[in-house]
Amino acid sequence: MSEHLLIDRSEGVLTLTLNRADKKNALTRDMYGVMGEAINAAQDDASIRAVVIQGSTECFTSGNDVADFINNERSGTDSPVYIFLKAICHASKPLIAAVNGPAVGIGTTMLLHCDLIYAAENARLKMPFVNLGLCPEAGSSFLLPRLLGHPRAAELLLLGEEISGTRAAEIGLVNQALPAGETVLQAARKAALRIAEQPPGSVRLTKQLIRAGISRTADEVMETEGQHFAQLLGGAEAKEALTAFMEKRKPVFA
Ligand code: COA
Repeated sequence: MSEHLLIDRSEGVLTLTLNRADKKNALTRDMYGVMGEAINAAQDDASIRAVVIQGSTECFTSGNDVADFINNERSGTDSPVYIFLKAICHASKPLIAAVNGPAVGIGTTMLLHCDLIYAAENARLKMPFVNLGLCPEAGSSFLLPRLLGHPRAAELLLLGEEISGTRAAEIGLVNQALPAGETVLQAARKAALRIAEQPPGSVRLTKQLIRAGISRTADEVMETEGQHFAQLLGGAEAKEALTAFMEKRKPVFA
């Protein structure tokens, strides 16, 4: 249980709603743990046919809680964030995401493991790992170039610049860009309900076939990224970048 995550299992759909508005739905260890467990449990639950991950009509997520980063509470492949990442990487049931507002860091990289993604036209997707003195995670250094090609992946990862939901749809990072707010949540729900009506065995096998090889390699890459990430998190560049965020100032990398 986490007060910051709402769970609904109606109509054959596991819906996970991030619910920490005051911190822009920043993800804590508790939230990762509960999401990972719920997604893992859904794989063997015949009553669940699809999973929706969403934020509010205003915000998807500002990514990993920066205070947790500063306390280096992320390392180790048995930590809650890895339980969550492995759960989405290996999920056999379709994952659908609804993205309004900011989707920062893992807010964008988790989308690479989803099957259908609906974003607001004005959604703000960003992977500022380098900007924070860190490196890509969630298998994104493998998944992003594969999905978008090297130049676009390099642009998003090295510059860490924000792109809109409209741009994300243009480059194939999300399925569709829609008017912000309820429309995005409704599109995800509609797709999930449609999948819940499809023959489950066929859905499962098709997902398995289209992700064959990807999940296995992404998992391996995730391990390597995780080791570098943990090391960088303890380094001077990340310390300056993360402290600067908390102190609401521009970082200085001498
Ligand atoms: N972890 C912890 N707290 C966070 C956070 C995060 N990832 N993102 C935002 N917050 C907090 C802010 O510190 C602020 O708290 P305060 O009200 O106590 O000062 C509150 O949430 C609102 O954030 P704010 O920055 O004022 O909102 P905004 O609408 O101007 O900007 C974002 C929203 C998401 C664009 C911006 O907060 C942001 O860039 N967050 C950092 C994201 C990040 O670097 N995540 C790690 C990625 S690897």
